[in-house]
Amino acid sequence: MEESFKALEFVDGKLKLIDQRVLPTQLTYVYASTSEEVAFAISDMIVRGAPAIGGAAGYGIYLAAKESDGNWDLFRKKCDIVGFSRPTAVNLMWAVDRMKRIAEDSGLDPDAMLAEADRIVEEDRSMNKLIGKIGSAVIRPGATVLTHCNTGALATCGWGTALGVIKTAYEQGKVRHVYADETRPRFQGARLTAWELVDAGIPSTLIPDSAAATLIRAGKIDCVILGADRITTDGDVANKLGTFPLSVICRTYGVPFYSVAPTTTIDFSMKEGKDIPIEERDRDEVIRPGGVLVAPANIDVFNPSFDVTPHQNITGIITEKGIIYPPFDVNIAKLKDQQKA
Ligand code: MRU
Repeated sequence: MEESFKALEFVDGKLKLIDQRVLPTQLTYVYASTSEEVAFAISDMIVRGAPAIGGAAGYGIYLAAKESDGNWDLFRKKCDIVGFSRPTAVNLMWAVDRMKRIAEDSGLDPDAMLAEADRIVEEDRSMNKLIGKIGSAVIRPGATVLTHCNTGALATCGWGTALGVIKTAYEQGKVRHVYADETRPRFQGARLTAWELVDAGIPSTLIPDSAAATLIRAGKIDCVILGADRITTDGDVANKLGTFPLSVICRTYGVPFYSVAPTTTIDFSMKEGKDIPIEERDRDEVIRPGGVLVAPANIDVFNPSFDVTPHQNITGIITEKGIIYPPFDVNIAKLKDQQKA
């Protein structure tokens, strides 16, 4: 099966994006035709999810090259605007760096850069499919799976990562039921994952984030499968806020806990999770969900968008190159060596 929509697509010189801010009540598109518009689309979360952000950034840098017309200083400034549009997902910096290398090799040739941006998207699509096949092996027949945030076609350039694994395992007849955390405060689980699960016809139930512990303790969840925004060489994983507490509950009750990501989400330059920059977002996301004030307007708010799960809590990291198991530091180093070879 293929995904029935594309989160991003480059059409007639513009980046066409599903506006993920307004799903599921509206399915509308936003067209970004400048590098600054791409940067805004990323920071405002019109497009979100680590691999989709990387894909969008590729086109942002292509547009930056066109706009700079051979002016390298201007090009670098524009690259920074795109590259700093969100801080946690390493796929963003990875895509910007990859595009900058092509800019240097080609002398800012827009054709070469557009081809590279297309390649980033195509590669992500193929990695997604491989991840689905590889990851579905960890799901036992009749399994009930819990997931967090959104890691499906909306979050990537293709089929999805963690939700891709779940969809593939469902097609294989192995998934009995999926529980989706609503994922406060931006509700990616309620608005996006639930939309994708309904679209795919997968039996599923939406839960408040805090209900996961009750289900896990009751033995109702066979495994938790979710995404990653940055994985360090020790195997620590930054992912959507709420991932870390889920991992603690899974460890307490012996439930397998898998993080799923393409190897483009591994930051080979960072050893420990404590060094991952964690984005803090606007207070209104917490006190005004959907534009409705639900707290005193002058209350202090702490709104980290991600948390870090220590590798000790992770059963395995599913990638397109295979499943990485502990010891993560050793096995991630091996993967790095394979990539160099
Ligand atoms: O803030 P978001 O919606 O971009 O956060 C997304 C996540 O945390 C996902 O789990 C992660 O990016 C993996 S998407 C395949």
